[in-house]
Amino acid sequence: MQLFVCESKEDIGEKVAALLIRQVQTKPNSVLGFATGRSPLETYDALAAAYARGVVSFKDVVTFNLDEYCGLTKTDANSYYAFMQKNLFSRADFRTENIHFLDGCAADDKAVCEAYRAEMQAAGGIDIQLLGIGTNGHIGFNEPSDAFTDGPFLVTLSQSTKNANGKYFADGSMPTHALTMGVGDILRAKKLIMIATGESKAKAIAAMVNGPVTPQCPASVLQTHRDVTVFLDAESAALLEGGIS
Ligand code: PGA
Repeated sequence: MQLFVCESKEDIGEKVAALLIRQVQTKPNSVLGFATGRSPLETYDALAAAYARGVVSFKDVVTFNLDEYCGLTKTDANSYYAFMQKNLFSRADFRTENIHFLDGCAADDKAVCEAYRAEMQAAGGIDIQLLGIGTNGHIGFNEPSDAFTDGPFLVTLSQSTKNANGKYFADGSMPTHALTMGVGDILRAKKLIMIATGESKAKAIAAMVNGPVTPQCPASVLQTHRDVTVFLDAESAALLEGGIS
């Protein structure tokens, strides 16, 4: 695991975007796994800016997002599909037919999850997967539990996640369930890039890096992947054992 402590969120965004742009310039039909939440916002700004400057095109890029809330349609402003449209897809030349999302409104969640797994496989696997981390150590919506899950699945959101994300739902209508890639799906990506900033992530980052590999801290499983790059700020890195340079 490679760890970098950066000056600012903007600095992280520029660095992560540079890695993604290099990937796409080298392989225009790259398969990119995207994440939602606050952590990747500066990266998406930097990608949109690079597209506007003509530095990169995403027209052949295939995308898979980590997760989606159950019960929110694509047009619901709180859906992760809408988040991606607003913060990245509509700001560059991504093609709708190349965008893959778990459908949180489908009647048959098992069929949706199986199909998503098959689509990732048919696309040749994910080249780079972006990740955030929950204050409880979740990746995607893989919440602390007794076992790691392999493929996409329906998850009951933890109280910690409801506390962290409830603020986006003004009327207390935060969904209780979501569909998420499993830990196995995340580990199958060829390269993983994690972004974490702020003091609230410090405990989870320390557990991910220095703690045992355990499904009680799902992010700790990244210790078993051979190509993980983690971008932190001083606050999120504060509890790492021995510090990092
Ligand atoms: P955040 O969420 O980027 O909004 O902090 C990360 C996560 O919960 O995985």
